[in-house]
Amino acid sequence: MDTPAAAAVVTPAVYGASDRPPRGDYSRGGAVHADYTCPQDWASYTPADHETYKRLYERQAAQLPGLACDAFIKALPSLGVKDRIPRFEEINERLHRATGWEIVAVPGLIPELPFFTLLANRKFPVTDWIRKPEEFNYIVEPDVFHDLFGHVPMLFDPVFADYVQRYGQGGIKAHELGAGEKLARLYWYTVEFGLIRQTDGLRAYGAGILSSVGELQHAVRSGEPHRLPLDLLRAMRTRYKIDTYQANYFVIENFAQLFEFTAPDFTPLYQALEVLPDIPPGVLLPGESGKA
Ligand code: PHE
Ligand code: FE
Repeated sequence: MDTPAAAAVVTPAVYGASDRPPRGDYSRGGAVHADYTCPQDWASYTPADHETYKRLYERQAAQLPGLACDAFIKALPSLGVKDRIPRFEEINERLHRATGWEIVAVPGLIPELPFFTLLANRKFPVTDWIRKPEEFNYIVEPDVFHDLFGHVPMLFDPVFADYVQRYGQGGIKAHELGAGEKLARLYWYTVEFGLIRQTDGLRAYGAGILSSVGELQHAVRSGEPHRLPLDLLRAMRTRYKIDTYQANYFVIENFAQLFEFTAPDFTPLYQALEVLPDIPPGVLLPGESGKA
């Protein structure tokens, strides 16, 4: 835990990233630990950084009703301050009490095994830097706004929180079986871009949707994307885009379903996936309506 992550500087493989090298500073004068966590560099935020967070928060909070799921809306106030970037310790007091999770700071995207390992230990990695004003509307890499606002409220939901831990445990196993990339698609289509059916209609629970100014409407209301009932094999066969809105979303009925779906051993699924072709984003298979 206290060894500087020398390897971190040279490891290009990052989780859910593009071809570009990740943009965070992975050395920080030795402040980054071997598990990729580091202290939140709160002192280095400028007044402009806090202002960016405040404006992002206000704009996003205003469009949640009717689009974000109930669990998210209920937990959002637990993030605490809205007019500056919160200190992670402040949130952790409440989060740990609620579900036993804690957030840990990281310098940016991290490789898959350390990522899975943190999740398996109920630690959620949160990037500490914030986007520049010119990236206000769109940023490809996760920053502190995406990670905090998008992900952390959902970790206050006990069933969803258990799912994310189980995902981390499953991820370690998938990594050993060489199936990390396939399992990453399940993360993408649930934790990042998942939709849930409430009695009052479809809502978003995925952080990539909830932290995006444009994608909330697109994902939940637009007639453009396909919406499919979550099927593990289908989701893990489906490639995804990281630089545009998603062309398809997967819908769950409740968080217990997500937890139950992922209880069985995935080894046979990974074997099946080895011989099944990938499905490009936005493509429907015979018999699919795309209107879940
Ligand atoms: N149950 C899966 C396995 O045995 C792991 C898993 C858990 C995958 C949660 C996704 C989410 O491999
Ligand atoms: Fe994310």
